[in-house]
Amino acid sequence: MTTRAGSTAKSEALYARAVNLIPAGVSSPVRAFRKVGGRPIYFSKGEGAYAIDEDGNRYVDFCMAWGPLILGHAHPAVVEAVMKTARDGLAFGTVHKNEPRLAELILEGFPYADRARFVVSGTEAVMTAVRLARADTGRSLLVKFAGCYHGHGDALLAKAGSGVVTQGLSGSEGVPPSAVKDTLVLPLGNLDALEQAFREHGKDIAAVITEPLPANNGLLKQSDAFLKALRAQTSKAGALLIFDEVINGFRFGYHGYAKLCGVEPDLTTLGKIIGGGMPVGAVLGKARVMEQLAPLGSVYQAGTMAGNPVALAAGIATLEELKKGEVYRHLEQLGRSLDAKLQTHALREKARLLRVGSVVWPYFNLDAAPPLEADDIRSAAVEQYHGSYRRWLERGVYLPPSAYEVSFLSAAHTEAHLTQFLDALA
Ligand SMILES: Cc1ncc(COP(=O)(O)O)c(C=O)c1O
Repeated sequence: MTTRAGSTAKSEALYARAVNLIPAGVSSPVRAFRKVGGRPIYFSKGEGAYAIDEDGNRYVDFCMAWGPLILGHAHPAVVEAVMKTARDGLAFGTVHKNEPRLAELILEGFPYADRARFVVSGTEAVMTAVRLARADTGRSLLVKFAGCYHGHGDALLAKAGSGVVTQGLSGSEGVPPSAVKDTLVLPLGNLDALEQAFREHGKDIAAVITEPLPANNGLLKQSDAFLKALRAQTSKAGALLIFDEVINGFRFGYHGYAKLCGVEPDLTTLGKIIGGGMPVGAVLGKARVMEQLAPLGSVYQAGTMAGNPVALAAGIATLEELKKGEVYRHLEQLGRSLDAKLQTHALREKARLLRVGSVVWPYFNLDAAPPLEADDIRSAAVEQYHGSYRRWLERGVYLPPSAYEVSFLSAAHTEAHLTQFLDALA
């Protein structure tokens, strides 16, 4: 039983201390719980599907660190790999055997690509991919879609997803117009807008970047036809297609979403799962493009902590586990069970659970068709999520503290956890 026992006094005290030291007490804005009310929970321990707070309350966790923890918290193989590597030294700032190993494991899932370069975050992976695309094409213009989040690099902070929207912003102060003047933001899924952009700007477009399954502003599943059109338009115009698979990569099987939609991009960005809970990002592509990275080429990318052996060890252990296939079978089964349970559950009268594989987005609206782009998301549905959130916590269920974020199922979740999820949300 995981209903929260009670006090959150220790979390409250920690937060009171933190707010005078760290802006809003957090290292990333949505964590401040501004929209859901109350104070953030300080977790001190993770065990499989559970996150346990400083006061000893146990929650079934469906946030799962925003996606990386596909194996659940503190998976023994991952923790062991990290400990073993750490004992031998935390960082060397040079090459390490974990780099070719993780690169092999990643490239196996993305057969179109034959080179990977490691960075520390998804943000950096995207920054590097965009720089590569601009260098490769000798063009500047970058096309992105409203509601897709690609990290917090200046050029991408225009109409980006959850973190920005949750704060009620359309972009960020401090980003000069010059930084976004080469970013063209198009509505998601709109073939006319896409064709028009290429008609008018095709010869200046360096790249189109998208999450093939947009999962940062709700779950806005696009048609394969739209994704194929991105491929066709970019190829015709001599621009690159970048799939940002920071959430998607290795989430639906030992591959990217690219395999599911049958579209091969020129570059892929990864993060989250490939670090198994540690800070790892990567950009992948064909040698022809990737070998323009310094020192082979003149596109700069670097990092003191890039390819850190301990972080990579967590990624290796995670992918080795995923490669066995059982985790994906379990996740598929859980997803189907969730749909089936919902059919006879009270939640059905209140919300849809939009789901692709183990990614689930509770959407508190039954009137209109599920949203396909950010502007379609009903504000009443958002308010319902935010207004209910504290009660979910009290019932021992931890979801992302933003209505725009998706929940994640993991290998550690069971049928009983699904029931708890549905009961809490209802
Ligand atoms: C699709 C996508 N791209 C990029 C990023 C940025 O990754 P990071 O937070 O590791 O910088 C995220 C993070 O949520 C993401 O979901």
